[in-house]
Amino acid sequence: MNYNKKTILDVDVHGKKVLLRCDFNVPQDKETGEITSDKRIVAALPTIKYLLENGAAVIACSHLGKPKGEWKTKLSLAPVAKRLSELLGKDVIFAKDVIGEDAQAKAAALKPGQILLLENTRFHIEEEKNDPAFAKKLASLGELFVSDAFGTVHRAHASTVGVVDYLPAVSGFLVAKELEIMGKALDDPKRPFVAVLGGAKVSDKINVINNLLEKADTVIIGGGMAYTFAAAQGGKIGQSLLEADKESYALEMIQKAKDKGVTLLLPTDTLAAKEFSADATPVTVDTMAIPDDMQGLDIGPKTTEAFCAAVKGAGTVVWNGPMGVFEFDAFAGGTRAMAKALAESGAITIVGGGDSAAAVEQLGFADKITHISTGGGASLEFLEGKELPGVACLQDK
Ligand code: 3PG
Repeated sequence: MNYNKKTILDVDVHGKKVLLRCDFNVPQDKETGEITSDKRIVAALPTIKYLLENGAAVIACSHLGKPKGEWKTKLSLAPVAKRLSELLGKDVIFAKDVIGEDAQAKAAALKPGQILLLENTRFHIEEEKNDPAFAKKLASLGELFVSDAFGTVHRAHASTVGVVDYLPAVSGFLVAKELEIMGKALDDPKRPFVAVLGGAKVSDKINVINNLLEKADTVIIGGGMAYTFAAAQGGKIGQSLLEADKESYALEMIQKAKDKGVTLLLPTDTLAAKEFSADATPVTVDTMAIPDDMQGLDIGPKTTEAFCAAVKGAGTVVWNGPMGVFEFDAFAGGTRAMAKALAESGAITIVGGGDSAAAVEQLGFADKITHISTGGGASLEFLEGKELPGVACLQDK
């Protein structure tokens, strides 16, 4: 995929009305609606500030949650407008619709240096359908499209792709930065290149494992999906997570690693317990011989040591997916050790969004990581080597 895309530095934004797609899909408290992490809003600030300081009028838009075409007060972007205004230290005008009268009037009246945030794009069912009429109307609010919603570039929706049929389109600083750092890690990594993959399911990571076996020197597999690899090799995994239909794929990947000369590290010991619960008692067992009444919930001490040693000597580390059930303190040790190993490695360290990003933040290592992606699904698809529609549609340099 070509990620050499024009950015806002390659076009004249002065005096332009800029339609800016952000990913303001922020986590919120279910009860109060309060924003629980403003990381994605903060990540959009460099682009917004640059545009405002360089004489553009910014019409920002985003989705929030999955309202599926319904107007849901709980998924309004109004709290985001408030938080954005606090972070920018200036007024953020809020439109109570997306392409309706309010948005049109406010966009038309917007002056250079001012910012308007539209209501949740997914309040229109046409957004996710990438409906051309909706995209055209949205595009008509601006004169230039800037994509800075890295977390949503894997979605071919009206506000990420459709609008590009009607407006010149370039990337913002966040998209450019994500592409540059992750692109370099995949295409020209400082070696040894170590990929650490975890998470519950093999099926979520099939294409990532496959793609990274083409690129990395060492691939480490932990988390729930490791038990399918153990079972595939004849191990007894007790009540641990198993995707029986992925066993042959696991064997294929083991063979692929051998053929490619890639070191594939799998857990040799496991922290298992009788129940899936925060107060379950952890017992260290052999990963290939987990007792019938137990399930693996974290990597064991020997495995942790081996995985961390591989990370220690790395030039580049890409990590996606926790090593165990890190939400339970008793089973967070493997994930914590991995986060610490990345933080202390001196390597270029990249953490894919979603659970692994949450783990690194929750465990207090975020400021020691080179790059934590703002994309969950998007960074996963990037690591899979897939074309990202929200990037492919932007103008080439
Ligand atoms: C994300 O949170 O990964 C992005 O905002 C995309 O959201 P979606 O999975 O609802 O499309």
